[in-house]
Amino acid sequence: MSATTRAAVLTGLGSTVPDQVVTNAMLASRMDTSDEWIRSRTGIRERRVVEPGTATGDLATEAGRRALKSAGVDAVDALVLATTTPDHTCPATGPAVADRLGLGTIPAYDVAAVCSGFLYALATAAGLIALGTADRVLVVAAEAFTTIIDPADRTTAPIFGDGAGAVVLEAGDAAQRGALLGFDLGSDGALADLIIVPAGGSRRRTSADPAEYFMKMRGRTVFTNAVLRMASSSRAALARTGWKPGDVDRLVGHQANVRILRAVAEELGLPAERAFVDVDKYGNTAAASIPLALDDAASSGLLTAGDRVLLTAFGGGASWGAVTLEWPDLS
Ligand code: UT7
Repeated sequence: MSATTRAAVLTGLGSTVPDQVVTNAMLASRMDTSDEWIRSRTGIRERRVVEPGTATGDLATEAGRRALKSAGVDAVDALVLATTTPDHTCPATGPAVADRLGLGTIPAYDVAAVCSGFLYALATAAGLIALGTADRVLVVAAEAFTTIIDPADRTTAPIFGDGAGAVVLEAGDAAQRGALLGFDLGSDGALADLIIVPAGGSRRRTSADPAEYFMKMRGRTVFTNAVLRMASSSRAALARTGWKPGDVDRLVGHQANVRILRAVAEELGLPAERAFVDVDKYGNTAAASIPLALDDAASSGLLTAGDRVLLTAFGGGASWGAVTLEWPDLS
């Protein structure tokens, strides 16, 4: 028996956001809200929004390019794209992104798990590596999420933004820094209506009400479930890793609301400052938020090689997940 255990190891990281900044003051000038309300309830100060004509695939391609460069590679065996806002209902956006990156005829597909999408995509990519189907996988999470947000809805427009992040996973050993260690994933379809675009799918193809083509969210119920599920999923992933909550140096949670991140840290008994926060700059970018936060944290020196990192998310589905890793040296 081999002394090493095959694992998926994070070897590259990149992200991108659109140039257009929308501040709270800009939103307050066109709807019944205020900078004070948005900041105190969510921690968000501004978000990035795609211009018409920019799609998820454009952000995904740029984030993917940066992650490949960071890993120092120009070829992978598969691409997994997490998104809620594909370029088209059909086909998936992943193959077009692979083509634009010059990755050839590799398997490329989309994963739809809304705000948990990056963790689900990581798990399927790690599965491809565990099976030996792939030795190197590009995992991208990208959203032009504001394209499904009603610009006049004050319960969602201040919350969401656009962006993309990507990582390269390579076959390596579980003892290596960067190896994905303990995963936990879950879902509860009984909560499907918490975050939903009512019309435009096969269930309700058309609607006379244009607002039904935009996302609706039952924010308060999502908040409560997010805290409970992110904390319990984190505990499960930590237990699989053999870590205690106090072993975690950096909690990089889905960036939905600073109050959720603090509450999850508190549930786990972690000091609030171990929870990385960049929701103030980007709002909630759904699937993209964790890899975007990782890149932000790494480039600002808040993630350093050897840090024990816990990632966790909750989102539409409902879906949730968590995974652990020791931060690799990406320089
Ligand atoms: O990414 C997937 C996961 N998503 C999330 O995790 C989002 C989770 N939910 C949240 O972050 C919070 O629930 C929100 C930020 C969305 C809302 O904050 P809240 O503290 O739960 O507010 P609420 O929905 O309970 O609304 C409180 C009040 C209401 O007025 P009344 O009924 O108390 O008079 C709302 O009508 O705030 C009002 N309100 C607003 N006021 C000013 C709702 N949106 C706004 C707004 N500006 N933008």
